[in-house]
Amino acid sequence: MKKIKLSYICSDCGTNFPRWHGHCNICGMWNTISEIKLAKPSNHSKQKSSSKTENKIQILSDINLHKLPRLKSGFKELDRVLGGGIVPGATILIGGNPGTGKSTLLLQMISMLSEKTTALYVTGEESLQQIAMRASRLKLHKKHLKMLSETNITKICEIAKKEQLQVMIIDSIQVMRITELQSSPGSITQVRESAMALTHYAKQNNVTVFIVGHVTKDGTLAGPKILEHIVDCSILLDSSADSRFRMLRSKKNRFGAINELGVFSMTSYGLQEVHNPSAIFLSKEKEDIPGSSIMVLWEGTRPLLIEVQALVNRAQANNPRRISVGLEQNRLSLLLTILHKHADLEIINQDVFVNVVGGVKITETSADLAILIALLSSFKNKSLPKDTIIFGEVGLAGEIRPVPSGQERLKEASKHGFKKAIIPSANVQKNTTYSLKTYSVKKLSEAIKIIDKL
Ligand code: TYD
Ligand code: MG
Repeated sequence: MKKIKLSYICSDCGTNFPRWHGHCNICGMWNTISEIKLAKPSNHSKQKSSSKTENKIQILSDINLHKLPRLKSGFKELDRVLGGGIVPGATILIGGNPGTGKSTLLLQMISMLSEKTTALYVTGEESLQQIAMRASRLKLHKKHLKMLSETNITKICEIAKKEQLQVMIIDSIQVMRITELQSSPGSITQVRESAMALTHYAKQNNVTVFIVGHVTKDGTLAGPKILEHIVDCSILLDSSADSRFRMLRSKKNRFGAINELGVFSMTSYGLQEVHNPSAIFLSKEKEDIPGSSIMVLWEGTRPLLIEVQALVNRAQANNPRRISVGLEQNRLSLLLTILHKHADLEIINQDVFVNVVGGVKITETSADLAILIALLSSFKNKSLPKDTIIFGEVGLAGEIRPVPSGQERLKEASKHGFKKAIIPSANVQKNTTYSLKTYSVKKLSEAIKIIDKL
């Protein structure tokens, strides 16, 4: 009898080891290495060797790009996150917490797609009746919607091959299984082998496969970082606490930019696109409030206006509190030290709270200046005019550094009716088409003077 081959894989970084260790010496994590049983030559590897398409060396410039028109999903927000539409033959992983709306999004998408393409929705979690009920409630076109309730990957691929599909949805990878493998569905072995089989199927038949993957409590994809290595695109559907808004963000994309953001709102008619997300992140408050400033973040390929709020108050205990939501704690400490040193502000003995409105997470340094000014505004209890936007990176010497795409950020602000902008002097351009009074600054001290005068 053939011995089953074992391997050990780190669920955090995906490294293979010949034997078990408690500590992964590649990514440094503990207790992340688990045993996987390697599949006996599985169906997909057999298919590979018996592939009818002949592979020969080609010159890159001779490759016909027109063979790859992208499909439109029906959701502009989703298309943008995918880099301009669905690429044929790609495998796309959609991750997210339970209940964020992954199944709803894909059901709505397939109902729009099935009018012009052949698409199949494979469900392993919900029954066909449940999906039919949801589709009726959402008033989706059901006429051409092909559904399959199955969890056996080999069978799914066999059935799908007969259908000449263009798009297939697998909901979800955690319940799929390959019967030759001993381990239970959801285990690393099953998830990895199922995803590999689906990827082979997608590439050989030029079918786009959407794979739904659940996210564990700590926000990583259950089972596998490994999944992210296998697929072409990995996108995450995220919801901020008690919010009806859902953010779709690409984490890996072989066909477009990453960190692209798509915004949806969950309504009683399913997910609706939010085409102008800046409007939802800005408060409708007409009055100027101390401790608030508006910045322009660059999200993927477009600017986004976002409000940041700060509260600075005398510490009640010896150990002042520093709490930030949507901003990295270390960045806040750094900004506070800059403020203390270069603005001569006695902020060390103050409690400091920073909140980025709308559950947005700041990953850019262009938000520095706006955060500093919000802190200052709260400390001095002096509000900024509501029609002012601020962006710029702040260096350790208190210098204001330029940020990429300055002109696009200003244009977006002007489009939303903002009248003034405090920006790095290196971002100022002579010929501009928008009406926005710009105050250019080189140092933090200059910015503070301008605010006092505003
Ligand atoms: P679902 O797509 O089942 O989430 P996932 O597949 O990511 O687990 O979404 C379920 C949630 O969405 C559920 O909490 C109810 C909510 N929802 C609405 O608010 N409106 C709707 O029209 C639908 C279909 C779902
Ligand atoms: Mg679901």
